[in-house]
Amino acid sequence: MLNGFNKDFAFETNILEAGAYFNAPTTNPEALPIHMSTAHNVEDLDDLQKRYDEKGFCYNRNRNPNRGALIDMMTYIEAGEASLGCSSGMAAISTAIIANTKAGDHVLSDKTLYGETIEIFTKILNRYGVEATFVDFTNMDEVKANMKPNTVMFYTETVANPLITVPDLKAISDLAHANNAILVVDNTFMTGALAKPLTLGADLVVNSLTKFANGHSDAVCGSITGSAELVAKCHEMQVLLGTQADPFSSWLVCRGLRTLDLRVKKQAENAAALAVALEKSPYVLKVYHPSLESHPQHELAKAQFGNYFGGMLSMELPEDREKMNKFMRAMHLCHYAMTLGGYRTSMAYPPMSSHSDMTKEERMAIGISDGLLRISCGIENTEDLVNDFLQALEVAYK
Ligand SMILES: Cc1ncc(COP(=O)(O)O)c(C=O)c1O
Repeated sequence: MLNGFNKDFAFETNILEAGAYFNAPTTNPEALPIHMSTAHNVEDLDDLQKRYDEKGFCYNRNRNPNRGALIDMMTYIEAGEASLGCSSGMAAISTAIIANTKAGDHVLSDKTLYGETIEIFTKILNRYGVEATFVDFTNMDEVKANMKPNTVMFYTETVANPLITVPDLKAISDLAHANNAILVVDNTFMTGALAKPLTLGADLVVNSLTKFANGHSDAVCGSITGSAELVAKCHEMQVLLGTQADPFSSWLVCRGLRTLDLRVKKQAENAAALAVALEKSPYVLKVYHPSLESHPQHELAKAQFGNYFGGMLSMELPEDREKMNKFMRAMHLCHYAMTLGGYRTSMAYPPMSSHSDMTKEERMAIGISDGLLRISCGIENTEDLVNDFLQALEVAYK
């Protein structure tokens, strides 16, 4: 028991000590409290040693109770041995990559990734002697042809941004392991509720928990999950880089994750229904969603994901900015947002967001036209949502 408050101390002293510790037991609260404390006191040096030995809470950057709860949830959800809670999806991605590469190494990466992930390779890692090659991960011949003896990491997304392509994770992980490389998969678009890359052979899974995982568009957070050994390597790097998730965001994401299963299944159902309706629309040039038979990896997606193909889809409209603006303004249930995965449907425009650093030619080379809109489905009533899209298309294009 730590001493502090004493009625003989001055007011300015006791105001620091009064209420410093809880007096009654606080075990087993119905809802998880938020532990904002940056540090936890110890009673003496023996207690300090004990705290180290049991990997208890000392300093927030190393460990925090709310981050610990998030870690437990993510380890379960992604079927791993261990996890880290990170300050954002990018923090998770950069920590996982930096912890597992060194000068002279080569990374083989999917070319249709979230734009800023590509920049981790092209703007940061290349300065430290790590080379990256970007290929189409849905083309196994291309993947094989670009492997090098020093390829230590393969990197992809379960469902790649923004054309909603689906790489064969089992085949890619077999290839990676035959080359003594690891496979890192960003599972942000699907979440562990709909796809578990670790069970298909991935070595590390990274997530932007900012998106579907939290689902309420009110926290920025990320995670890394994998084997105890690889996650320990990432933890060492995280403590040095300071990429840990803060207690409040961890708490918010834990709360969001409680309804993950309900939300993402409904979001996937809405996306599949919307994809069918948009594909029939005379105003839409192309629809990208793995549930569609027209999707090039439809069969693979069925085998890899089962009945739910995720809440993300894209549609290609004619390259006419005025009409696209008209369409956007006519929508009631889907507004532009520089995020995705929330409970409300939202849209984004890759040429002016995730892929804005590319020239039009570079974008066209990977199939991103100036008419591409990416849609993240929410949990609205399916009919309301579909009808709203159809009426807005009528307003803009008829
Ligand atoms: C697939 C994917 N991965 C990672 C990120 C980065 O996540 P955050 O914004 O939490 O850093 C995003 C952001 O949109 C994303 O879409």
